[in-house]
Amino acid sequence: MTPDPRVRIETARLQLREMTDDDLPDLRAILHDPQAMTAYNGAFSAAESMAWLQRQRQRYRDDGFGLWAVVRGDTGRMIGQCGITRQQIDGDQVIEVGYLFQRAHWGHGYGVEAAAACRDWAFSTLPIDELYAKIRSTNIASMNLAIRLGMTVRRTFTTHYRGVDMPHLAFAIDRGTWARRSDARPIGFRGDVAN
Ligand SMILES: CC(C)(COP(=O)(O)OP(=O)(O)OC[C@H]1O[C@@H](n2cnc3c(N)ncnc32)[C@H](O)[C@@H]1OP(=O)(O)O)[C@@H](O)C(=O)NCCC(=O)NCCS
Repeated sequence: MTPDPRVRIETARLQLREMTDDDLPDLRAILHDPQAMTAYNGAFSAAESMAWLQRQRQRYRDDGFGLWAVVRGDTGRMIGQCGITRQQIDGDQVIEVGYLFQRAHWGHGYGVEAAAACRDWAFSTLPIDELYAKIRSTNIASMNLAIRLGMTVRRTFTTHYRGVDMPHLAFAIDRGTWARRSDARPIGFRGDVAN
């Protein structure tokens, strides 16, 4: 199946595109890994992974964005998911950047590279004043990534997910701070670099 070409974002080493059913095996390499899914209270079942994929595809239809496949330019293989979603924090609607990578590809800067491109896409494309990242209080790697995006902690809150109360931190970056960053790169809806 040909991936839906609606959103395409390119970085130096990565391409981001909408996920299709063909991506399920690469998605499972993340969602069925208990270590990668620590912040989500452990590995997903096959049914939960399928529901996750369908949810992203519904988001593409409803919002025009969601978690996208992150594909390495050199191998053409999907190594992670990164993208933009609508979320709630204590009843407030926010726009979030999310990121989950296969463990074999951690620690090479792919997370920051993909998430920075999604941050740039969000501020370039959506009428938002702030971009958030909801991060479980135990997820140090994710917090360090958010800091690398220019985010700071705005508040704490607790979610109830898969039967567990999870203390969280809300990280965010505002539009003005983003615009002043030397790595901010305005990009268009299809990921074209704006002049
Ligand atoms: C969070 C995650 C996406 C980071 O991806 P990554 O590709 O390893 O990140 P990068 O290599 O781009 O590193 C980005 C920064 O994050 C931090 N970081 C990454 N892994 C870390 C770790 N294990 N411990 C502490 N900090 C870490 C570092 O500060 C790093 O900056 P550096 O380049 O100065 O070292 C990855 O660990 C992951 O997929 N985790 C499981 C899913 C998840 O929890 N997602 C977040 C949900 S909120």
